[in-house]
Amino acid sequence: MKKVLKWIGIVLGSLLGLLLVAGGILYLIGNSRLNKTYDFPPSNIVVPTDEASIEFGRHRAESLCEGCHGKDLSGIENWFSAGPLGTIDSANLTAGEGGVGKEYTSDEDYVRAIRHGIDPDGKPIFMPAVFSTSHLSDEDLGAIIAYLKTVPPVEHKTNGQNFTALAKILYVLGVLPQMPAEAVSHETHIAAVEVGANAEYGEYMVNTNDCRLCHGKDLNGGPFPDPTRIKISPNLTPGGELAFWSEDEFINTIRTGTTPSGHELDSEFMPWKDYRNFYDDELKAIWLYLQSVPSLLQYTE
Ligand code: HEC
Ligand code: HEC
Repeated sequence: MKKVLKWIGIVLGSLLGLLLVAGGILYLIGNSRLNKTYDFPPSNIVVPTDEASIEFGRHRAESLCEGCHGKDLSGIENWFSAGPLGTIDSANLTAGEGGVGKEYTSDEDYVRAIRHGIDPDGKPIFMPAVFSTSHLSDEDLGAIIAYLKTVPPVEHKTNGQNFTALAKILYVLGVLPQMPAEAVSHETHIAAVEVGANAEYGEYMVNTNDCRLCHGKDLNGGPFPDPTRIKISPNLTPGGELAFWSEDEFINTIRTGTTPSGHELDSEFMPWKDYRNFYDDELKAIWLYLQSVPSLLQYTE
């Protein structure tokens, strides 16, 4: 009997040892991926200074940046916080103490962060929006940077990413998403799409405004990107409920957060309060594009 117990002890002990070694290796891989430095050719984007461009930059930032960086863009502490995984603060985008406007030394630093998902040292940042902002045209990106430089400075020091060892292991195992810098296309130049109420511009709006982050790459639904929150986003292709909506009903849904059937969209999951600021033509364009995509069945797990 004693012998059997001894053997069980040895087997369990060795398994535990193996697990610790495997965990340690994954942790080291995670660390080196998070500390890898990237370099991309400069975009040489010319940041505009005219009123109209700055106003357009404000309009974009209102729907695309405020949700994660706060109304005054001074950053949100514990923007992501899940006990055993660690925390992430979103950055202060103003020129106040602790803000990127104070720390960045060139316009190219903004481009690196927003288009490529890296900080001025070339290290990847955990900003999921880069999957969208990496598609912004040179023109729109320039307008956003121009606007950021005009926002009132706010003093606020933020701490960026603080991942635990467990988070680094899960990241290597693919349970946590990739860093955007590892996955986006890293274009040097992106031509503007002609603005208008047409499907082509709608596709640009969908690509640059996070719709695919939640509704899936083919827009037929998908799991919520934050793995600590369980939610499947609905199908936006003609295979889903939108097939029964009119353009007006679509626009009304985004503006009010209530669907034609009276369902109230939970703004904790679907950021309609950011999107309600879209211009009419932008919403019309999105509608036309959604109507033109292949009809697919709802994504299920
Ligand atoms: C889905 C949430 C989200 C959205 C939307 C978002 N950001 Fe961020 N952003 C973050 C987080 C989180 C960080 C901190 C990442 C880190 O430290 O790893 C960050 C960091 C940054 C940084 C600092 C990078 C550095 O040097 O460390 C800049 C600049 C930035 N964001 C600009 C923008 C702009 C401009 C927009 C709108 C076009 C935007 N962000 C939209 C979440 C977001
Ligand atoms: C952060 C995740 C997220 C993003 C980003 C997002 N959505 Fe959603 N969306 C959801 C979720 C989740 C729901 C379901 C909400 C509910 O039922 O309370 C939803 C619901 C909707 C609905 C209602 C669909 C129906 O069948 O009732 C429409 C329309 C919609 N989203 C369009 C969009 C468009 C267009 C974009 C991009 C401009 C977008 N969403 C971006 C998560 C998201």
